[in-house]
Amino acid sequence: MESLISLVNKLQRACTALGDHGEASSLPTLWDSLPSIAVVGGQSSGKSSVLESIVGKDFLPRGSGIVTRRPLVLQLHTIDQSKEYAEFLHLPSKKFYDFAAVRKEISDETDRETGQTKQISSVPIHLSIYSPNVVNLTLVDLPGLTKVAVDGQSESIVQEIEDMLRAYIQKPNCIILAISPANQDLATSDAIKMSREVDPTGERTIGVLTKIDLMDKGTDAVDILEGKSYRLKFPWVGVVNRSQQDINKRVDMSSARRREREYFSNSRDYKHLAPRMGSEYLAKMLSKHLEGVIKSRIPGIQSLISKTVADLEAELSHLGKPISTDAGGKLLLIMDICRAFDQIYKEHLNGMRSGGDK
Ligand code: GDP
Ligand code: NA
Ligand code: MG
Repeated sequence: MESLISLVNKLQRACTALGDHGEASSLPTLWDSLPSIAVVGGQSSGKSSVLESIVGKDFLPRGSGIVTRRPLVLQLHTIDQSKEYAEFLHLPSKKFYDFAAVRKEISDETDRETGQTKQISSVPIHLSIYSPNVVNLTLVDLPGLTKVAVDGQSESIVQEIEDMLRAYIQKPNCIILAISPANQDLATSDAIKMSREVDPTGERTIGVLTKIDLMDKGTDAVDILEGKSYRLKFPWVGVVNRSQQDINKRVDMSSARRREREYFSNSRDYKHLAPRMGSEYLAKMLSKHLEGVIKSRIPGIQSLISKTVADLEAELSHLGKPISTDAGGKLLLIMDICRAFDQIYKEHLNGMRSGGDK
């Protein structure tokens, strides 16, 4: 049976095809009704590192300055076969088996939209990764918060990034993955500042603490990880990503994950927290959490689907064009997805009634 997460993925892709990608708008759009996980944090807080270790692959552009300049909607799909590959929504017939080429395509596609001016754009890039080693999960990578413009970017970029992030995370269906580095005072964390503004009670913010290995000797992150420094509804997750030196030396992801596990289980400070630390735990927890949030939002999603379909139908009849036009194709696509969504939802309900936990 298709998972709820993969159905929501399809809806998100359909929204992008229709030009609905959660732009600031007074009316609720279908996109807004879809639960998603947005990654926020300051520049160099470790966002890319966290995403890559969740995926278990190197595939994100790296470098100094503002590397992520468009939202990247990253959809992970668990498959049985062992050959991993990636696909972009804007290149539907091409399968990428080489993840270095994925990285290049992300940066080329960023430039295509922003015209190499190093400006930012809120039009998302959709990337799907199919692998036996990933959990079903969708994450949106956003530009990092920054204080200064570089590379000839206009000063306004600092504010534009903040506005784009706020537009995403202020939506009630957004789960905020707030990345803060442990070697900086939590009170100065961009991720915490921003998430506190839109989610003051911490109901939908998941705190991730990176760079625990880089803390000053004699200090530790136990108070943060135990939720005593800054309380969130969900427990904080600590991670140890690869250092710059590891990346230069091409330490692969599986040894990095093993080292991360060992780091927590061998540490006197963190041993008691080890079962809920690290990237693998984070990925599983997020997948489960996202599925739960989707289930709880189904009625809202369904009503927005019906409204979107009705709007599209009205638009089509207004244009008086036959269903074979581009818009008609998209409408049919959305209707197909809606039917599938309805079907799966009923199966879930039946499963719950018959005592299963599916
Ligand atoms: P982003 O700008 O938020 O995407 O940050 P990156 O993921 O690119 O990380 C910035 C730098 O910090 C890179 O050189 C990473 O190797 C390094 N880094 C990230 N997380 C950790 C960590 O947990 N430990 C160590 N030692 N280095 C890290
Ligand atoms: Na959303
Ligand atoms: Mg990055």
